[in-house]
Amino acid sequence: MKFFVDTAEVDQIKELNDLGMVDGVTTNPSLILKSGRDILEVTREIADMVDGPVSAEVVALEADAMIEEGRKLAQIAGNIAVKVPLTWAGLKACKVLSDEGNMVNVTLCFSANQALLAAKAGATFISPFVGRLDDINLDGMELISDIRQIYDNYGYETQILAASIRTVNHACQAALIGADVMTAPPGVIKKMADHPLTDAGLEQFMKDWAKTGQKIV
Ligand code: G3P
Repeated sequence: MKFFVDTAEVDQIKELNDLGMVDGVTTNPSLILKSGRDILEVTREIADMVDGPVSAEVVALEADAMIEEGRKLAQIAGNIAVKVPLTWAGLKACKVLSDEGNMVNVTLCFSANQALLAAKAGATFISPFVGRLDDINLDGMELISDIRQIYDNYGYETQILAASIRTVNHACQAALIGADVMTAPPGVIKKMADHPLTDAGLEQFMKDWAKTGQKIV
């Protein structure tokens, strides 16, 4: 499973990237706001640091304007994935931008039918938002599973990018279902290393080691 980091905070991306944990990065207008950075500048910095796809989102609502913005974002670096919303205009922009050879990430996906349309429009990635479905008492993981089945039924190559991943359970479930990618905030990725039995076991080992009076170095 590929790990994308869902943030525009360069320091946090660097820490995970240095560990080999980063296969790509996703950003959106809210994350750009949170970073306090200029979109073109911070996206270039991230794209220079990371080898994999870096998603940068258009903000226009009409297809022609989305295409214009998408082309500009794509010029930042060779590893930019242009992110467009899952609207009819977004699907039109997806088709044009992907036909031009750009990676396109279709975002704000909340249904299997939307994901089917994105695949037909040539999306490189489809981003179903798991956490936001859970927020309204729907089952985000069921959507990942439905999209997996539909894409496998017909051999669509669009990659399922499980997004709005909020918990370590989301991450594990998405991997079990077979999402190609998950994008999660750095904190969620780091929490995947935690287990109370690891902590308890380590504490006991440290106590016993102290009693031996030995040193390794
Ligand atoms: O990848 C999409 C993500 O940024 C949305 O996450 O937690 O705002 O629903 P969230």
